[in-house]
Amino acid sequence: MAILEDMKKAFTEQFGGQAQRSFFSPGRVNLIGEHTDYNGGHVFPCAISLGTYAVVADRKDDKSRVYSMNLADKGVIEFPMSGLSYDKAHDWANYPMGVVEMFNEAGYKPAHGFDIVFYGTLPAGAGLSSSASLEVLMADILEDAFHFGLDMVEMVKLSQKAENKFVGVNCGIMDQFAVGMGKKDHAILLDCNTLEYRYSKIALKDASIVITNTNKPHSLASSAYNVRRAQCEHALNELKEVKPELKALGELSNEEFNKLAGHISEHLERQRARHAVYENNRALEAVDALEHDDVEKFGKLMNESHFSLRDDYDVTGIELDTLAELAWGVPGVIGSRMVGAGFGGSTISIVKNDAIENFKKVLTEGYTKKIGYAPSFVVASIADGTHRID
Ligand code: GLA
Repeated sequence: MAILEDMKKAFTEQFGGQAQRSFFSPGRVNLIGEHTDYNGGHVFPCAISLGTYAVVADRKDDKSRVYSMNLADKGVIEFPMSGLSYDKAHDWANYPMGVVEMFNEAGYKPAHGFDIVFYGTLPAGAGLSSSASLEVLMADILEDAFHFGLDMVEMVKLSQKAENKFVGVNCGIMDQFAVGMGKKDHAILLDCNTLEYRYSKIALKDASIVITNTNKPHSLASSAYNVRRAQCEHALNELKEVKPELKALGELSNEEFNKLAGHISEHLERQRARHAVYENNRALEAVDALEHDDVEKFGKLMNESHFSLRDDYDVTGIELDTLAELAWGVPGVIGSRMVGAGFGGSTISIVKNDAIENFKKVLTEGYTKKIGYAPSFVVASIADGTHRID
């Protein structure tokens, strides 16, 4: 593989010696079920063939040295294999450092460090989970070297913990789960309340999944994300006062929610909770439609997901709304919605294969005219989760 050859060359240049093993970890795209994971609802993501590669060699001491070919200007970053805390100066390396530290905390102590070169093919800031990709990759490197006996779900949980506790982003489990547990040509229906999951084959016949990146330079997604989370938690607590057995918004049907909603005192929080409940039930309905070969209905529900994320959850913004609205008007588009946390990042569209060229043209022209710069496109293929290559 040409990428790995280049990485092995970079390894020798940076560290001397030869890389011994190589790994790949995908990014993810979520088909439907957005902002439901931390509300105990369902998500329906898949891993994609873009992701993060690593070439690795063991060291004899307790130190690791890491180098990213995407961020060459940051140079080689060094850290010890225990006693780590977040260090701004270590920039992107905080993701692998966080994973190492969470392994330590859980009692899985690495016996030595590594030299590692990373290279990512995911566009940064595109909402395709480049950070989760890197985290689960590091977890797999550790498990592969030390045979702690962790299965992928346990590695996924430690990776999420690294993001929550070490990096300080209060994300749910969807991204790490999709990255680690992905399966070629399948999406994962995951109940985030119980972590029960199953695979669902994605056969879109004459259509493809097209990811459109807003290319929005920078967004303050993480603070707004934490606010949404807190609003939903507060709404849930108010509902618990009248329904003490309720554990998560994801347990409610739309009808039950509408009966109870009056107990949520703040209008805004009622809206946020309504999104969480409706989106969860919509995701289940959508998966059922897709499994009954009703791609049209799936697409309609994707569009409704976007409306709800725009109107009730308020996480879209002009860039994502512009892309979705343009997409809805293109013949051959089955459905289109924002993906991930929102505020920027990407949309996902299901587009008939013979309509993709026109789709790109219409969105590029319309978006550039309104926003001032162009979007970019990836036709996604659904890939396997994090694994060792050789
Ligand atoms: C981000 C988070 C996920 C999930 C999505 C929204 O990607 O990392 O846990 O909450 O936003 O669905």
